[in-house]
Amino acid sequence: MPSTLTIRRPDDWHVHLRDGPMLAACAVHTARQFARAIIMPNLVPPVTKVAEAVAYRDRIRAAVPADLKFEPLMTCYLTDGADPAELTRGKEEGVWVAAKLYPAHATTNSAHGVTSMDRVAKGLEAMEKAGMPLLVHGEVTDPDVDLFDREAVFLDKVLFPLLKRHPGLKIVLEHITTREGVAFVEAHPDRMGGTITPHHLSYNRNAIFKGGIRPHFYCLPIAKREEHRLALRRAATSGNPAFFLGTDTAPHSTDTKECACGCAGIFNAPVAMQVYAQVFAEEGKLDNLEAFASLNGPRFYGLPANEERITLRAATLEAPETVEVPGLSKTITVFRPDTPVDWSF
Ligand code: DOR
Ligand code: ZN
Repeated sequence: MPSTLTIRRPDDWHVHLRDGPMLAACAVHTARQFARAIIMPNLVPPVTKVAEAVAYRDRIRAAVPADLKFEPLMTCYLTDGADPAELTRGKEEGVWVAAKLYPAHATTNSAHGVTSMDRVAKGLEAMEKAGMPLLVHGEVTDPDVDLFDREAVFLDKVLFPLLKRHPGLKIVLEHITTREGVAFVEAHPDRMGGTITPHHLSYNRNAIFKGGIRPHFYCLPIAKREEHRLALRRAATSGNPAFFLGTDTAPHSTDTKECACGCAGIFNAPVAMQVYAQVFAEEGKLDNLEAFASLNGPRFYGLPANEERITLRAATLEAPETVEVPGLSKTITVFRPDTPVDWSF
């Protein structure tokens, strides 16, 4: 096992930075690890207009310390009746990098999401023409479908028809959690990418209930059985260019997670590369970490890979347990797997 690993500076293709005091607390942690990040638009209200994205991008840049080089890549939150002209214009102006599909009520701040694919078809046609990828939260919202089956059902009921209906659309299945999701991406190599989080690689659904309810392991899509975690680990470490890094770091204050109805989302930004390195080391695939973290994502999005390098060290993880939110007298609890992490950054 090498004691250091130097790779091109990675990017994070799926990040929630929030706004206001939360943004002020969180942006630095993503910018320390990553050169660029795809910024999720599920603010309240959501980011649906080009002007809103430009203003949010400015707030993000202002929240990152000046000595860190970091580029926020903005996304449009798709709503029913999403305006094709706004999508096209934002792409042409270099503001939108992609648009995000949240099925309505699938997850945090998705109340304005899409209620049927028909209602967003015109927007998706504009995206096909503009060469703008669609990023998908891949879960059905039907309450009759078991929570643990919602990703697999989405693939059959929504994603497969969507690929057929919009043959020019490139799609990222975000935060894959199932072997069915892995297989779906593998089956459409020219059309699809898939992001995989550090937490879904680190634990299975048992961890959420081990010795009591563990709210800091709760996110959506929820972690599945061990066989699914193993499929994710094989996909992420395989070198297959369709799979790339997306942390889905999603901060909520500690009090809003440790309560009777805790929020979904895991704040992993301070430990993301360390946990990914741990997973790749355990799989004997450290040689493929650079492809997953630094090459496959830019290739999918048609962007150059970063020229700078980072070095990870084989040393016990050092990370704070919590991060303070300035001005709110709140903390955010930092993700920590139950298993050892022997990589430092
Ligand atoms: O767990 C999650 N948290 N999943 C999502 O899809 C959204 C995210 C959030 O914004 O908190
Ligand atoms: Zn997310």
